[in-house]
Amino acid sequence: MTIDVSALPRPPLVKGLPILHSLVPILRDPAEFVRKKYNELGDVFRVRAFNRELTVMAGIEANQWMGVERRELFTSEINWAEFTEKANCPHMLIGVDGECHSYQRKMLKPYFAKKSLVERLPMMQEIIEKQVQTFDNSVVSVNPWLKNLMSNQVGYVMQGKEATQEQTDAFMFTQNTITNIWMFKRWPSLALLNPHYLRAKNISDDFRDKLIAWNSSRPGKSLETYMDKIEEGRKGKPEWFTDGDVQAHAMLPYVGGVDTAGGTHCFILYEMLNHPELMSRLRTEVDAAYANGSPDHEVLDGMKDLHGFILECMRLHPTGFALNRNAAEDFEFGGCRIRKGDELLIFTTATHMDERYFSEPEKFDIERYREPRNEHRQRHVYAPFGRGPHTCVASTLAEQQLMVNFATLLRFTNFEAVVPLRKLKKKYSPVAFMTDNFTVRFTKRAV
Ligand code: HEM
Repeated sequence: MTIDVSALPRPPLVKGLPILHSLVPILRDPAEFVRKKYNELGDVFRVRAFNRELTVMAGIEANQWMGVERRELFTSEINWAEFTEKANCPHMLIGVDGECHSYQRKMLKPYFAKKSLVERLPMMQEIIEKQVQTFDNSVVSVNPWLKNLMSNQVGYVMQGKEATQEQTDAFMFTQNTITNIWMFKRWPSLALLNPHYLRAKNISDDFRDKLIAWNSSRPGKSLETYMDKIEEGRKGKPEWFTDGDVQAHAMLPYVGGVDTAGGTHCFILYEMLNHPELMSRLRTEVDAAYANGSPDHEVLDGMKDLHGFILECMRLHPTGFALNRNAAEDFEFGGCRIRKGDELLIFTTATHMDERYFSEPEKFDIERYREPRNEHRQRHVYAPFGRGPHTCVASTLAEQQLMVNFATLLRFTNFEAVVPLRKLKKKYSPVAFMTDNFTVRFTKRAV
């Protein structure tokens, strides 16, 4: 039976204030707000924030549609259109659909596959081991430290070049400014004239141009870089790799995971401090893993407690908790009419707190990822890396990075919170981190 979609009701609208509507609670804690409304209103509802209206779709069916069954209903291109046009990168991976997107994903697949990452594991270890050697009763401001660690480490592993704290700050300031203007439409374009932005952009552009030049003249080319992969893609489809596209790609390793991976590291560190009862168990596992020196990938893969801890943090604090899309056509969802062009927020991690899939979902429980429970393996329920064609291209790399960094920190350092944990909150800018007062003291651990 075909449904007359136009005769269906629109999704219920969340009640809010006049003019601002739900803007304030959304800015304060978007994940909490969406979760609360999902519990009240179910799988589909509309929410207004000042002059924007979003239709939220959530639950197992939304995940299933997004992941496989009805992918064609969702487009990323509308949402990214202004950004990709103004930033002069019309074929940026995350902003394209269809053939151009699948071409890029297919080309990148072997680069991000486990086999290729295994070769790069020592490079990842080198960066964090160098870092922990400098920790000596050191008080570290967690957010800037983690952002630089992400950019530096992923940049080094993927492009062969490290980035300093000053460079990371400049990359992220540039990136945040243009996304706030062209993507989230929160800032006026006047922000492009801010001297701080212009200085940061100069640093970023200079770094990027030198990186591209260095890569093409690199002697020997022993380990393939991400840039080599992009050059290969360009040879096959020059029309999808304009100069601007190539420049944007060059910087991806330095900015792509800084917020999502940085925020995830931040919550794991927080939860380790919050769960002292699990620390000796984690350290026993880590010490055994170091019995013959830095663990190789097989040893890392066998670390079930640390892996369970990381998966549990990503369930409870998913930094990419929902995905922005537009409806590519009119369709029915949850008995309601979704109109072509509607701005959608697919709340892909609503299932993380659903007791039908995760027993006692509020409880911090690292056992749920072990045989026979394997709660995260149920289809469509666990989505820290998103769902569908744009699922995180670097998810295996990110999991390896999390394992390497926390194994190294647990092995070589003791850490304690400088500010009491109760004084920390989640903050969004736009991705979730703990507040900037999160400070940790690292001391050397006798091993
Ligand atoms: C724990 C760490 C990470 C988390 C939780 C995470 C999360 C996500 C999520 C939820 C998406 C889907 C976005 C969407 O569909 O709109 C995504 C996509 C993406 N991520 Fe990650 N990410 C992480 C690490 C990284 C790293 C380290 C990189 C850098 C190399 C990266 C690069 C990307 C790219 C390029 C995409 C877009 C893929 C596409 O459009 O096909 N991510 N990530």
